[in-house]
Amino acid sequence: MNNEAGNTTAQGNPLKHVAIIMDGNGRWARARGEARLYGHMQGVESVRRAIRGAMAHRVEYLTLYAFSTENWRRPQTEIDGLMELLADSTVREVPELKAQGVRLQFIGDLSALSATVRESIAAAERETRENNRLTLIIALNYSSRWEITCMTRELARKAVHGTISPDEITAGTVENHLVTAPYPDPDLLIRTSGEYRLSNFLLWQAAYSEFYFTEVLWPDFDEAEFDRAVAAYRLRDRRFGGVKNLYREKAGECPPE
Ligand code: IPE
Ligand code: IPE
Ligand code: MG
Repeated sequence: MNNEAGNTTAQGNPLKHVAIIMDGNGRWARARGEARLYGHMQGVESVRRAIRGAMAHRVEYLTLYAFSTENWRRPQTEIDGLMELLADSTVREVPELKAQGVRLQFIGDLSALSATVRESIAAAERETRENNRLTLIIALNYSSRWEITCMTRELARKAVHGTISPDEITAGTVENHLVTAPYPDPDLLIRTSGEYRLSNFLLWQAAYSEFYFTEVLWPDFDEAEFDRAVAAYRLRDRRFGGVKNLYREKAGECPPE
């Protein structure tokens, strides 16, 4: 009834939040005899295409993994180039994002970034905060282990101060203390470049995300690939530990057991 072979509703699973691990910029550039940074520069156009794809599918949240807490292990020239690109692109894209109704938000340890990068982020968030067509969340100097460590510290602090009782801590309490607290969990998580791992991205939040892995390198990612990921997602049987697709059951489309 609802397997990947076919029969499903016209729309399939509802899709609110797509998260993407944008990977493969370096390999894309090296394959062309260019420096890795050239791949990152080309990747900016793919970000624009992903935003267009998200809007075409009426996605409400799009989270993009731009820089992990482990990416500081890269050569300093690449890090400097990436940071400059991030700051410049953020500033350059704001007018278009504003015009498109995109609200830009950043998650991650921003305190470790340069003043220039932090200022461009703060300005972009401020200028787009009234928009509500799409929330674009950039994970910058982000990792799940960093996030979960911060959350743990905060809860321990509250317990010590007596503002929270350890016995009252629930999954909801944890969620509310993560940097992603304002957003729903991703429904669909895409990773490009043929790598099959999470690389410290949204470990808690992706507990029930549907994964889509593609060989396409990030600079080649386009709306057609976004469409393919969404089409695959729509047909997935999301059970959340239950026995059948809850959404279709609600719509009265599952036959009685
Ligand atoms: C993804 O591309 C961008 C970032 C991690 C910043 P990579 O730079 O990881 O490209 P590959 O994986 O080395 O090809
Ligand atoms: C994950 O890609 C981080 C981002 C896309 C920002 P990496 O290229 O850093 O991941 P690994 O090192 O291959 O796992
Ligand atoms: Mg990579």
